[in-house]
Amino acid sequence: ERTSVAIVGAGPAGLLLAHLLDIAGIDSIVIDQRSREEIETTIRAGILEQGTVEVLTDTGASDRVRTVGQRHDGIELRFDGEGHRIDFAATVGRGVWLYPQHEVLKDLIAARLAAGQDLRLGVTADSVEGVDTDRPRVIATGSDGERIEIEADVVVGADGSRSVVRRALGGSSSGHFREYPFAWFGVLCEAPPSSEELIYSSSPEGFALISQRSATVQRMYFQCDPEEDPERFSERQLWDILQARVPGTTLKEGHIFQRDVLRFRSFVAHELRRGRAVLVGDAAHTVPPTGAKGMNLAVADVVLLAEALRALVREKGERLLDAYPERALSRIWKAQHFSWWMTSMLHTSPEATDFDRRRQVGELRSVVESEHGRAYLAEAYTGWPLAR
Ligand code: DHB
Repeated sequence: ERTSVAIVGAGPAGLLLAHLLDIAGIDSIVIDQRSREEIETTIRAGILEQGTVEVLTDTGASDRVRTVGQRHDGIELRFDGEGHRIDFAATVGRGVWLYPQHEVLKDLIAARLAAGQDLRLGVTADSVEGVDTDRPRVIATGSDGERIEIEADVVVGADGSRSVVRRALGGSSSGHFREYPFAWFGVLCEAPPSSEELIYSSSPEGFALISQRSATVQRMYFQCDPEEDPERFSERQLWDILQARVPGTTLKEGHIFQRDVLRFRSFVAHELRRGRAVLVGDAAHTVPPTGAKGMNLAVADVVLLAEALRALVREKGERLLDAYPERALSRIWKAQHFSWWMTSMLHTSPEATDFDRRRQVGELRSVVESEHGRAYLAEAYTGWPLAR
């Protein structure tokens, strides 16, 4: 089989790329080993930068982000017993949208099917061959065990942190890497919102994030040991832990119907492109979740790559494809820094000394008490301009 662009992975990166290529009249095949049900129900990120929302709405991928999603014009940083609002609208005149990733995926899958595009679920990529030729191929296994071979002008790895495509670029573990001595314990509960905006709280007991999903479902996280067993706590214990970490707010409690432990990692692949194979999204990089950059960074990669692929397929020009890694990495490292900074500023390291904790409060104060500090945080959180 033959297509212009073979895309491995039907997450936000792969599906958005297929959508942008379709608008440009470029055909693609998207494969993913998961089922539609699994893709559309797995709970992941929740915050979209303004630029991400603009890409989704301007290209007709989602109207629901503006009707079902909720605009947020600020967040609260809480520490030392006090809350401090970072006002996005007042500092940078931009905002973010609370709209769950699986809703973005529902919109993108619906758009792909409505346009009659080729989306193959239950298909597992095994390897990528011929990346140094102009006919690279994805070798895959279909749901009935049959062998599938897709030949393309370009193969795109949008297949997440355990990317198969990345291996074809030179070593699956090859990259810049950092681990953290903590993780997030995430819960979903049936309750009304406890606060109008998200609360990022650094407390002596550790970090907590009070986020939301809808009027009746809330998402909350607290810092925990990476080896924590999610089943160890009763619901009562979970509420007590969360409540202790947001002093000053009385959380509205309800049944906790899902719990998970999210490990933290920072990663940037050494190679984002080799010949006719390119990486986007989590296949290219991973950020810790604090600051909600993961999905937004994937969208930024895809906007750059779509432009490069338009030039390649339509005009046979490789200049933008050559420039893709450098252009993408400039934003990737900014987002790596922001995610690392938000993480290290708000979490309590198990080895932290009294000096470290006091310095951390000094850092938080230097941000919230400075117009420029607040503006820096707001600018990064709402998202740097996209190359559009
Ligand atoms: C959510 C996750 C984040 O990492 C974040 O910074 C804000 C919100 C969320 O899942 O709701």
